[in-house]
Amino acid sequence: MTPKPQAGNPRPRLFRLEHDRAVINRMGFNNQGLAAVAARLKAVHGRLPGPIGVNLGKNKDSEDASADYAALAEGLAPVADFLVVNVSSPNTPGLRALQNTAPLRQIITATRAARDRSGAKPALLLKVAPDLDKESLRDIVALARDEALDGLVISNTTVGRPETLTSPHRSETGGLSGAPLFEFSTGVLREAYALSEGRLTFIGAGGVASGADAYAKIRAGASLVQLYSALVYGGPGLIVRITRDLAALLKRDGFTAVSQAVGLDHRVK
Ligand SMILES: Cc1cc2nc3c(=O)[nH]c(=O)nc-3n(C[C@H](O)[C@H](O)[C@H](O)COP(=O)(O)O)c2cc1C
Repeated sequence: MTPKPQAGNPRPRLFRLEHDRAVINRMGFNNQGLAAVAARLKAVHGRLPGPIGVNLGKNKDSEDASADYAALAEGLAPVADFLVVNVSSPNTPGLRALQNTAPLRQIITATRAARDRSGAKPALLLKVAPDLDKESLRDIVALARDEALDGLVISNTTVGRPETLTSPHRSETGGLSGAPLFEFSTGVLREAYALSEGRLTFIGAGGVASGADAYAKIRAGASLVQLYSALVYGGPGLIVRITRDLAALLKRDGFTAVSQAVGLDHRVK
């Protein structure tokens, strides 16, 4: 969400790539803004079964990104379990440039200070693009450690278009998510986990559609797994299938908790 309400990009802005089990979106942070979202979350705070994470973005017309992230953190910290600074959506012009060290440090400092002013202490994470080069990823992991962030969400959608895509909408502008993102985003997660030397927590996202996919993210370094696009094709029952299959895979390998398998790929090599 963004501080002020905004309409997002003109429709159509969301495309199914059915043959590829993928989605391309260029929504552009359509949302009702901080006040509406804070009120809605306040009404359910403490009454939902799982942790509530809030994804923070900046308004398209904002000239002070730090101020936007800080305003959201201050307003939403009391009703969230974790906050995610999103500087990786491809659909807000200039947003991904905020992944560079100087602006990023400024944003994180301002966001954390604002969270602390709120009196509440939700975890603070950063969500990154899968399209970062190696050096940028190294800089971000170093910055996350320096700034004592609680973790990284890896990853957002990609602006890349793998040659394997066959669906008619494959050339639409926007971020690609779903199955074709799986290997790519898991590779970035694996690399970031190795760079972090076990000192950061990772949320794995990108193309998860099965228990085996979730398990692969965990073995690459994720402590938590998120999915979105696969719900389009698998429906809400998918979550039950994934948790059931993941539990069976963990048991097969002799684990009694997800935490025991986090980063396993790095240990067995
Ligand atoms: C329609 C749509 C809207 C999204 N909006 C956001 C957003 O506002 N903020 C964000 O960080 N990621 C956003 N994402 C990216 C997803 O959160 C996720 O990182 C990405 O889709 C990869 O996971 P998946 O392959 O399971 O979908 C969006 C994705 C889709 C498909």
